Amino acid sequence: MTGKYIYILGIESSCDDTSAAVTRNKELLSNIIANQEVHKQYGGVVPELASRSHQQNIIPVIQSALDKANIKKNQIHAVSFTRGPGLLGSLLVGTSFAKAFSLGLAIPLIEADHLEAHVLAHFIQEPDSLSEVPSFPYICLTVSGGHTQIVLIRDYFDMEVIGRTIDDAAGEAFDKAAKIMGLPYPGGPFIDRYAKTGNPLAFRFPKPRIAGLDFSFSGLKTSFLYFIRDRLKENPAFIEQNRTDLCASIQQNIVSILMDKLIKAVEKTKISTVAIAGGVAANSLLRGAVMDLQIHRGWRVFIPKFEYTTDNAAMIAISGYFKYTKNDYAGYSLAPYSRSFRS
Ligand code: KG4
Ligand code: ZN
Repeated sequence: MTGKYIYILGIESSCDDTSAAVTRNKELLSNIIANQEVHKQYGGVVPELASRSHQQNIIPVIQSALDKANIKKNQIHAVSFTRGPGLLGSLLVGTSFAKAFSLGLAIPLIEADHLEAHVLAHFIQEPDSLSEVPSFPYICLTVSGGHTQIVLIRDYFDMEVIGRTIDDAAGEAFDKAAKIMGLPYPGGPFIDRYAKTGNPLAFRFPKPRIAGLDFSFSGLKTSFLYFIRDRLKENPAFIEQNRTDLCASIQQNIVSILMDKLIKAVEKTKISTVAIAGGVAANSLLRGAVMDLQIHRGWRVFIPKFEYTTDNAAMIAISGYFKYTKNDYAGYSLAPYSRSFRS
């Protein structure tokens, strides 16, 4: 393998983004994402519509990824795809396409776990620039729409979940709070934007008392719902008049729950190299709070580029590259899985 470039095609279709990427060793050559607008009017992802959109998008998205990378199909060494966790119908589209692509070109098929891939997004290199990557072991706070985990990473595929949510995920907490305020789906980015001009101390919400490194967000959602309902009874314009303060306060609460446990994880494991991953890692308050750990505590912190936080195939391709180097290939009989096998 020395001296030879390995080209991997990555395919991500676990939820509502159809994405394809091409890597050359650890370098990212292209990363194309087709968002599915169709779900916006329903205030959440409709699984059946998601799988249909994946079917429509997958061929043009893969073709664009190959074109942008300036790579022909027959130059690809292996195809890596998200096997799970995610929506089964959506995963089936990527899985079936990857199997057919692998069979048709007689190249290895590689399965990627979506959550492992979020963590491995830190190893994506931009062409012609060598950015610093985390050294093992490190602690990663993986925060997405479906999962919230603190993971101890000993090696690329040696990961142990040491904390997880016992109910809602952090992204879900953002999305549900946004929905209560009448904001579009997914609400996380809207809360982030409105919060910039709001007062984070304007409203106080309870913090869960969960032992150890586990999280809980469902109580916060309920107390936010009742709080808004009561205020609207007194003042129907309450949300419009307080939108920025509400967003800043709920964001402050969610981020402080995450940071408390992340700090606790470092204190417990004595591992002070810390990373964040997943869609909620795009949140500006969380990114700032993690950066503060470096400034004030001297910990080494790794914050991914925005485009590698939310779902993307670049992380699936890089995960595929590491498996390719170990000849860790998948068989054609495997089926997708909907739930994480670690949480
Ligand atoms: O990783 P991801 O793209 O999909 C899953 O694997 O679930 O994460 C999506 C989640 C959504 O809940 C979305 O609201 C949240 O990430 N999100 C954010 C921000 N950008 C995306 N949450 C807070 N602030 C943001 N800026
Ligand atoms: Zn994700």
